[in-house]
Formats: sequence, C-alpha cells, structure tokens
Amino acid sequence: MATEDIPHLLAFDGDALDKAFGTLEDTARNDASAIRGDADVEAFRLRWVGRKQGRLNEVSAWLKAAPPDAKKSVGERFKRLKEVVEDLLAAADGAGPNDSALAAEAVDITLPGSRRLTGAEHRITRTLNEIVSVFAALGYSVGVGPEVETDFYNFESMNFPPGHPARDTQDTLVIANQERRALRDRLLLRTHTSPVQMRTMEQQPPPVRIVIPGKVHRNEADDATHSSTFHQVEGLCVDTDITFSDLKGTLDHAMKALFGSSVKTRFFPSFFPFTEPSADVQISCIFCGGKGCRKCKHSGWIELLGCGMVDPAVFAFAAEKQPAYDPKKISGFAFGMGVERIAMMKYGVSDIGQFFAGDMRFLGQFA
Ligand code: FA5
Repeated sequence: MATEDIPHLLAFDGDALDKAFGTLEDTARNDASAIRGDADVEAFRLRWVGRKQGRLNEVSAWLKAAPPDAKKSVGERFKRLKEVVEDLLAAADGAGPNDSALAAEAVDITLPGSRRLTGAEHRITRTLNEIVSVFAALGYSVGVGPEVETDFYNFESMNFPPGHPARDTQDTLVIANQERRALRDRLLLRTHTSPVQMRTMEQQPPPVRIVIPGKVHRNEADDATHSSTFHQVEGLCVDTDITFSDLKGTLDHAMKALFGSSVKTRFFPSFFPFTEPSADVQISCIFCGGKGCRKCKHSGWIELLGCGMVDPAVFAFAAEKQPAYDPKKISGFAFGMGVERIAMMKYGVSDIGQFFAGDMRFLGQFA
C-alpha cells in the first residue's frame, strides 16, 4: 500500500471505519515484520510518520473529511493507529541487528584462543632497579658511564698507579693493538663502576649524591659465584662534613630496605685504593637469621659489598677539573655492590650462570 493508495473514505459509520483502520493496522504490522536492518527502520519511519508523505499524515485527511458527528470516532481510531505505528517503530528501532545479520557475524566461542605469552622483568634488571630505587628515595640521582673505558678512569684516577699490584685484584680485559697510545688513554672493558665516580665529579661540583648501575667485565673463570660479565651499583656521596657514620647509616638503611628490617649489618676492615678507610659490608645471614648455616659457611654473616671514605688522592684527581673538590673542605663516601650476588640471595639462586644461560625453565619461574 503506497501513500497514494490511501483511499478516500466515503462512509463514516463504525463498520466502515473499523475496516479501513484495520486494513491500515495490518499493513503497518506487515511492513514492520519485513524490517531487517537500520535502513529498513528508516524507510518504515518515512513511509508511516514522514512529515510530508507519511501515511499517517494522509490518513489525518480523513478527520477533516468526516462529518461532524463522526469526527470523534475517526479521531479515536486514528489515535490508536498512530500508537500502533509508533510502538512498531520503537520496537524495530531498539531491536538491533536481526537474526541473519547476527548469524553472519557469529564467532564460535568454543574454539581454543591463541595464548599470548607475557614477558617478565629479568631478575637482574628487577634487582638493579630495586637497589636504585632505595637510593633514589634518599635523594640520590642516577648516572651512567661507558663500558669501554680508559685506563685513566678505570684505574689511574681511582688511585691505582701504573704497575701497582692493586690492579691485579681486577683481572682486566683490554682492547687489542693500543701499544702506541699513552697508558692512561688505552681502552679496556671497565672492571667496576667506580670510574663513573670520577666522570661525575669532573662534570659536577659538590654536593653529589649519585648511584651508578651498570655492566662490568673481568677476565675471570666462570664458576657458581663468579661471572666474567656481571653488574654493579656504585654509590657516591660528597658534601661538607660527611663522616663514616653517614656511610654506616646509609648502607644499614639500604640493606634493611632490600632484605627486611630484621637484617643486621657489620663493617669489616678492607682495602680499596680509592677509599680510606675501606670496609666490606656484611649482613646477618638471611637464610639462618645469623645462627650459622651452609650458605653463610656457618659464620652467620654474608659479605655483600665494598665501601669506604673517598681517598683524598681521588679528590685530587677530580680537583684538576673541579677545584671545589678540595679534600680540606669536603669529604665523602663511596660504595659498590654486585647485583648478581644480591639477586642470588633474594631469589635463592645457587648458580650465577643461570641468569645468563637463557634457559626458559629457569627464567619462566619468575614470569
Ligand atoms: C669493587 O669492584 C669496588 N669498585 C667496589 C667499591 C666501590 C668499593 C666504591 C669501595 C667504594 P669488588 O671487586 O669487591 O669491589 O667488587 C664489588 C662486588 O662485585 C663484590 O662484592 C661482588 O658482589 C661483585 N663481584 C665481584 N666480582 C664478581 C664476579 N666475578 N662475578 C659476580 N660478581 C662479582
């Protein structure tokens, strides 16, 4: 039934009106049942309630044509037809896609999905970041330096003079074919992160509070606790009136933050050319609580890092570029720790090589 098909009503008695409105209602229901998508809904709306050519608009002409005594019954039926059309439209509008459209998009949710493997932070990276964040919380900034270093920064400026036996404590991998260079300019793989102490002081006058995480290399045979490549976190604090008790308080706090508040620390006399006095920091064994076990070789203590007060000879090298490093006016402490050794303790790893072997059975435990 097109719009122009709306007949002119000739009779306005109840039966004629019922028949005419009944036909329109059936047509509207048929139209609505054929709706399949959004475009059909819009077509239905235009066809039935369009302002210009909508059928309801046309039907309303019956009201005008009705004799006065039939206007009421035409009006009532018109109102009902309008409600039916509006209900059909509302139902079609909210219905969304019909069954065939849904079937076309159907997904079989019983099919097995493709599993996405999520990565996890390597335990060395995690431990390194943990150490750094303990010191960052104390106001330390973070520095870096080159892994290929000169003899000057790695050794000489750290108070290891050429030929000094202290150099033998860090068996060094040197870059080949540099004999024509002066010793201080010869390149090597840094054996510790301490050269970044000097690089930092040359760049920046005191006060300094910095931690330096990084990779270091030594010409050492690998065993359960030694690797030829490993990581250290260096620390340097320089200011006026820095004392050994500042060093002790700082490292005691750091060890408690890393291993738990019940951990005790003790400082054992040691030697490093670039610190005086020097100490090895030991913590009470985290496995036996200090009673003595196989892990701590029945001593109750585990040695964890080296530290000491910055040697005046090191400040003298820094003062060549930054005169403010005058050992009569300033003082400072430094420390350096091996990240693998700390990670081995934290995660109960007995062989350092496992961190680098790339064995997924080992690494997957921490994912
Ligand atoms: C140093 O390297 C000094 N630069 C540390 C330092 C810095 C002292 C500032 C004072 C002031 P040492 O050679 O002891 O010191 O190494 C420091 C830590 O690195 C050791 O305690 C150990 O945890 C770790 N380490 C040393 N050699 C190896 C290795 N081959 N494999 C794994 N970890 C190692």
